[in-house]
Amino acid sequence: VLVDEHTKQYCLPQLAAVLPELITIEISSGEEHKNISTCELIWKQLIDHQADRQAALINLGGGVIGDMGGFAAATYKRGIAFIQVPTTVLSQVDSSIGGKLGVDFKYGKNLIGLFKDPELVFIYPPFLQSLPKRQFLNGFAEIFKHALVNDKEQWGRLKNLDIQKCDIAQVVHDSLLVKKNIVEQDPFESGLRKILNFGHTIGHALEAYSLEHDQEPLLHGEAIALGMIAEAWLSVQLCGLEINTFDEIRSVLALVFPKRDISVYDTGLLLEYMKMDKKNAGSKIRFALLKSIGQSVWDINVNEKQILDDIEAV
Ligand SMILES: NC(=O)c1ccc[n+]([C@@H]2O[C@H](COP(=O)([O-])OP(=O)(O)OC[C@H]3O[C@@H](n4cnc5c(N)ncnc54)[C@H](O)[C@@H]3O)[C@@H](O)[C@H]2O)c1
Ligand SMILES: [Zn+2]
Repeated sequence: VLVDEHTKQYCLPQLAAVLPELITIEISSGEEHKNISTCELIWKQLIDHQADRQAALINLGGGVIGDMGGFAAATYKRGIAFIQVPTTVLSQVDSSIGGKLGVDFKYGKNLIGLFKDPELVFIYPPFLQSLPKRQFLNGFAEIFKHALVNDKEQWGRLKNLDIQKCDIAQVVHDSLLVKKNIVEQDPFESGLRKILNFGHTIGHALEAYSLEHDQEPLLHGEAIALGMIAEAWLSVQLCGLEINTFDEIRSVLALVFPKRDISVYDTGLLLEYMKMDKKNAGSKIRFALLKSIGQSVWDINVNEKQILDDIEAV
């Protein structure tokens, strides 16, 4: 079982109570460790423990453990089985589903990786009780995103939700079904699955920039929330999203996520990050945008001037 110091403390005891024979591999928590050097530590420990091709790796943790542990397992000895046991809101509704595995590389997020489904995804909402508040809220960005791109009724429920008091197991369940439904139709992202990238073209650039430059970097969900506001405004300009709807999206997200002044970010560098985005075709920067709540479009080419105007406007 692959853990970090937090899931070792808060989640492993519950898993070990039912699976006492586990061998533990521990890595340090945090996005800054989601790289090939940490994979080398994982592979080394698998070898030290003589893991053969019948071995299975259980990834007990958030999206970092799931993406990287899955990648390490899928490449070790040409691939051993792995099981995702997501322990954050973000990983329960999003990253554990859909088979995307990988690590960051110096030029951008998740640049090295592959698609492979785990044997099983085991979701246990009580693990979420030990999450710090900031991490708990962070996962709500993807919950809002799933509703915005494909589930109008869910958006209706979410916009009035008291996040601190909600039935989180129910919210997680409804949200992960949106993702499951989309990735089953388009597992390798040749079309429809691209709608799940709403907020992520600008959001990933903000996240990568913030990781390099900020004292307290934005978390993935926080960056995606800012990206969704910016891309909702682009949707008004390019796809006919109503201004009232944009205002609603912005005010709902602004209530949950911390404000961050991104006007000080270097827009030239942000554009460079966007050019590295995996959804692009050639040199064109492509977006998934909204026509209305629950209705999305993808492969929308947006030029650099439109992107810069957009970032300035929101
Ligand atoms: N594969 C995909 O489709 C996909 C989709 C979305 C995001 N991601 C990736 O997911 C990552 C973000 O995942 P995340 O938000 O889960 O972050 P994370 O994995 O870094 O976990 C956040 C923090 O919470 C701690 N933690 C985890 N579970 C805990 C628990 N139950 N109690 C207390 N602390 C706990 C972790 O140790 C860490 O410090 C990013 O790398 C992103 O690229 C992947
Ligand atoms: Zn995301």
